[in-house]
Order: sequence, then C-alpha cells, then structure tokens
Amino acid sequence: METRKILVADDDHIEKESLATILQREGYETITAGDGKEALEKIESSLPDLVLTDLKMPYLNGLELLTEIKSKYPDIEVIIITGYATVESAINAMKVGAIDYISKPFNVEEVKIIIRKTLEQKGLREENVQLKKQLKEHYRFRNIIGSSHEIQEVIRILKKVINGMSPVMITGEEGTGKELLAKTLHFNSPRKDRPFVTLNCGAFEAEQLDEQIFGSPTGKGVLEQANRGSLFMDEIENLPLNLQVRLLECMKDKELKIPWKNKAVPLDIRFITATTEDLGRETETGRFREDLYYRLTVIPIHIPPLRERREDIPLLINHFLKTLNEEHGKNIHALSSEALDFLMKYNWQGNITELHNVIERAVILTEGNEITLDVFPVRLNEVREEEILAIPKIPAAGIHLKEEVEKFETKLINHALKRTNGVITLAAEMLKLKRTTLVEKTKRLKDVIRV
Ligand SMILES: Nc1ncnc2c1ncn2[C@@H]1O[C@H](COP(=O)(O)OP(=O)(O)OP(=O)(O)O)[C@@H](O)[C@H]1O
Ligand SMILES: [Mg+2]
Repeated sequence: METRKILVADDDHIEKESLATILQREGYETITAGDGKEALEKIESSLPDLVLTDLKMPYLNGLELLTEIKSKYPDIEVIIITGYATVESAINAMKVGAIDYISKPFNVEEVKIIIRKTLEQKGLREENVQLKKQLKEHYRFRNIIGSSHEIQEVIRILKKVINGMSPVMITGEEGTGKELLAKTLHFNSPRKDRPFVTLNCGAFEAEQLDEQIFGSPTGKGVLEQANRGSLFMDEIENLPLNLQVRLLECMKDKELKIPWKNKAVPLDIRFITATTEDLGRETETGRFREDLYYRLTVIPIHIPPLRERREDIPLLINHFLKTLNEEHGKNIHALSSEALDFLMKYNWQGNITELHNVIERAVILTEGNEITLDVFPVRLNEVREEEILAIPKIPAAGIHLKEEVEKFETKLINHALKRTNGVITLAAEMLKLKRTTLVEKTKRLKDVIRV
C-alpha cells in the first residue's frame, strides 16, 4: 500500500513538530499546519488520509476545520487532539464526524495504536468499496454469455424483475449459472449497494441451519445480515420442515422475532432461492411445504442445461479463453475442428462449470495456440460412451420396443466397431457373438457404421 499521509494541525509549534516526528518514524508521510486555515489549504493541495487537529487554533478552530473536512472530503479521517479540560468538546466533535480523540499530554504508544487502527479500518473500508465496485462491474448483464433463445429469455425475465421485490426461484442443473444469475439480479437492482448474503442450505446440519438463518445470542443470522439487501438461499430443498414453517412466518409478517432480545426486527429482504430439484414434486411428497413453495416461486426462472442450448458453447469457450489466457499467460485463440466438434456434441452433465474446467485444463496443457482433441481428459470420452448407451425415456405416446432395441443394438455394435477400429472378429469377441452373426447383423441394421 502507498505511504499514508497524515496532516497535523496545532498552533503549539513544539507539540505539532514532536507529533510529526513520531509519525514519520512510524513510516507515515506528514504535513504540518499552525492554524485551521493553513490546514484547510494544505488538505486541499495534498489530500491526506488522516488529519490530527487541536481544537483551539486561530482563524479556524478544530471543530470548524472538522466540519469543513467532513463536508468536502468525507473520506478523510479526523482525530481530535485535546487537553483534559476539553474532553467534552472532543466527544462533541465525534458527533460531527471525528473518528476518535487523543488527550494531552499524550502517551506515544497509545497515539501510535489509535492511528494505526484508524488507518487499518480506513484501508478495509477502501478495499470494501473497491471490491463492491469490482462486483458491480463483474455482474453486468452482458457478462451472462449466450445467444440461444433459452438464455436470452432468462435474461429478459431477469431484467423485468430487477426493480421489484418479488421472490425469485432459480432452477437448473448443477453448474448452469444459478448463482451468477442471483448476483446479477442483486447487483443491477436498486439494492446493489446493500448486502448480498448467500446461504447454502445444503452445507449445514438442521440445527446449525437454524442459527445460520435466524441467528443466535452470539451472532446475527442471514435474515438480519441481508436486511434491506438480497438473500440468496442456495439448495433450498435442504431446508427442514420446521425451518420452512419459520421462514414462511418471517416472510408473511415481514419481521424476525428475536426471543433472546425480546424484540422483533422488521425485515425488508429480496429473497432469491435456487434448487437443482423439482420442488413442485417435493410439495406432493410433503417434503417441501406448498405454501412456502408458492411464496418463494412468485418469479420462477429456469436455466436449461447446456446440452439443450448448444449454440452457446462456442461463445462460452471464447469467453473462457479470454480470461484463462490472461490467467495462464497463454495466447490460445482457436480449437481444431475435431476438438470443437467434440465439445459441441458432448453431453455436459456438469454444464458450464464442467465446460470451464475442461477449457482451463486444455489451456494449461496446450503448447501451441490451438486446442486439439488430445488435451481433453479421458474421462470425457468415457462419459460420452455412457451417454451413447443411455436408456431412452418412454414418452407418453409410447415407443416401438423392437425399433428401440434395434437402435440400442446398433449403438452397441457401432461402439464395439469403433473400439476395435472396424475389425469384425475382435468386435464379435467383444460382444460375445459369432463372427457370422455380427456380419449378418451389420447387414440387417441400417445404421451400422462401416469402418
Ligand atoms: N451464461 C453464462 N455466461 C458466463 N459464465 C457463466 C454462465 N453461466 C454460468 N457461468 C459460469 O459458470 C460457473 C458456474 O456458475 P454458477 O456457480 O452460477 O452455477 P450454479 O448453477 O450455481 O452451479 P452449482 O449448482 O454447481 O452451484 C461460474 O463460474 C459462472 O460464472
Ligand atoms: Mg451454485
């Protein structure tokens, strides 16, 4: 961090200079002023982080100086230097915005500690502001990548509901971007400067979850923490029934009862929940309360799995390549056509998280500037095989068993032929068939590949 600048304002020359010397020895840059007017001029030209000021000074006294500083430069901290006789005025100064006071004659160690603590807290606050700014930058709508109708529809709904208060429930498989959506919702809403609090309901035992949500005598729960902001409850299906009842009560009454304080806190929270499960069905089995379900799903948003919006795959790959190149100091801008083809067809059980991981791995392993098929993990191919062999669901209209069995047979035969590079004898062995039977089948089944 840059050297912190401290301005010392005091009309007592000795006191001012001794204080400045102590601070310089501590590594701070110091500026001094002999009266309030000079102090204000020097503050304007040098913008210090902290001002130490005496209360009684000519031209502009300490209190007037403090008021000026706070109205023009609210980020500059002010500490009052005061004699025992004027402690009361120092306390008044704190009401106007001074962060602390030091009484004369001062204890050098105490002065050092107060200043260090003040600057540390200022540093933390600045970091926080910076972080918030970065978050707002990051969670912009244009960072939700995807040109598919499906994702565009999701963005459209999200934009429609940012200004309101209606609870939003985001559903989608693992890694589809539920958290990204929740944050984008918050950081573009009128609540963006207020807290965004996340609670993963799947990460706690029932008893801990109770404290996490509703608090305990030793700490605030997420309801209180998220007050006036947004609360994102992830994996909401894990909320036990007794806590469902209490959450519903809080939502209905718009208040949180705190028995150990014998009071109730009014609640003003935007609720965002997420689940990978079909909660509607869970209400039928009684695992999730129907009344809470309806209250939480006023705005349901479903993110379809990546395999149902494959046109987003190349866009996401490009998006990830940009940041990953930077992160790993690489310059990869292309994929071989086989590699891309493969990624386009893969079933992406883990959705965007999995795609990101596969691309990250590929970026690390790629030497040149093009990603080729061989950098993908073997596991990917195995999963692909499982997918080939997946059993189809029976639609309401029914199926032709014989046709389906033949399709399945074709897939297995094709699979064996691929694995054996088209050597019929080996493929037959693999399938525990006589060679002639396999030959006969390859002739009869129309979709068998000829390798
Ligand atoms: N449309 C998108 N555009 C860009 N990045 C995305 C998109 N969707 C998801 N991501 C990124 O993919 C990763 C996974 O997203 P996120 O954590 O939001 O998913 P999730 O549904 O909450 O996953 P999980 O079920 O595993 O908790 C994150 O790094 C996120 O930024
Ligand atoms: Mg998540």
